[in-house]
Amino acid sequence: MVVVMSAEAEEAHIQAVVALVENAGGEAFVSRGVNRTIVGLVGDVEQFGTLNLHALPGVTDVVRISVPYKLVSRENHPDRSVVRVGGVPIGPGTMTLIAGPCAVETPEQTLGAARLAQSAGATLLRGGAFKPRTSPYAFQGLGEKGLRILADVRAETGMPIVTEVVDARDVELVASYADMLQVGTRNMQNFALLQAVGAAGRPVMLKRGMNATIEEWLMAAEYIAQRGNLDIVLCERGIRTFEKATRNTLDISAVPVAQRLSHLPVIVDPSHSGGRRDLVLPLTRAAIAVGADGVIIDVHPHPESALCDGPQALVDGDVRELAATVRDLPPVVGRTLT
Ligand code: E4P
Ligand code: PEP
Repeated sequence: MVVVMSAEAEEAHIQAVVALVENAGGEAFVSRGVNRTIVGLVGDVEQFGTLNLHALPGVTDVVRISVPYKLVSRENHPDRSVVRVGGVPIGPGTMTLIAGPCAVETPEQTLGAARLAQSAGATLLRGGAFKPRTSPYAFQGLGEKGLRILADVRAETGMPIVTEVVDARDVELVASYADMLQVGTRNMQNFALLQAVGAAGRPVMLKRGMNATIEEWLMAAEYIAQRGNLDIVLCERGIRTFEKATRNTLDISAVPVAQRLSHLPVIVDPSHSGGRRDLVLPLTRAAIAVGADGVIIDVHPHPESALCDGPQALVDGDVRELAATVRDLPPVVGRTLT
């Protein structure tokens, strides 16, 4: 069950709801979104029904939710949400291009990639300073030095930054630089990390686990929401299947399915799905056509020497084609590029 507070509800009104629920032996989790606050209730639903929560000041609705992911469900919030990252909207009606290097390597490489991203029409810059690598011998990212480079490039280009955090102990540090925190596929069910980013006060991009069902993905988002953060963007980035021709299999149907089940925006990562430069544009077109709220794409000024995922990074020539795609295709499906 969730209690929806009005936009004008005061803190005292929210706390009155929490107190009533707790006095009845339940638990109440307050989640503050851009437009409204909702309180998720855990406990005896029948008993909550007797509390007359509707009558409390500041309460606009009390909704019984049948799915296990209550706060992120569309049952709770029929209108699809818009998440703002440094002022850039991600949600229905728009198409947001997030682009940049897979990994931050040097100031020159990061700025070069950001310029490529901007020339394609990107309004948000991606780049990893903490890299989750299969091999412990592979480049693990520059850590805080990489975050400083991202902050310098943001100052130079004006692009808000999206960057991954892989360890709950680093959330505060990464959040002090990032405009949006990314939780990667490998950490989708790292529950301590999900709770930490939920409390960090920054929008979160939650990538789908490579072996996760859509319901598991939404339950992971629920962990973040339950800690008070509803500014979550889901990212479909391909799943593991028997098919070896691509790095992962882009589950394109996950986009409309997740959008029907959840009010959260859903974007697609064509780079990590296909794992091949030649597939990025076709998969981007598929993502826009199916109704994705955005795409996140790797670009690199010199992918032949990239320290991570060079084969999937777009270069100069591809970027011009990407620019045309994100300019021309969104209007066909009723969206504008942000
Ligand atoms: C990139 O962003 C990831 O860190 C990368 O895809 C990890 O893959 P790998 O370590 O298997 O190369
Ligand atoms: C990334 O985007 O940098 C990344 C590591 O992606 P994923 O978690 O999807 O593999």
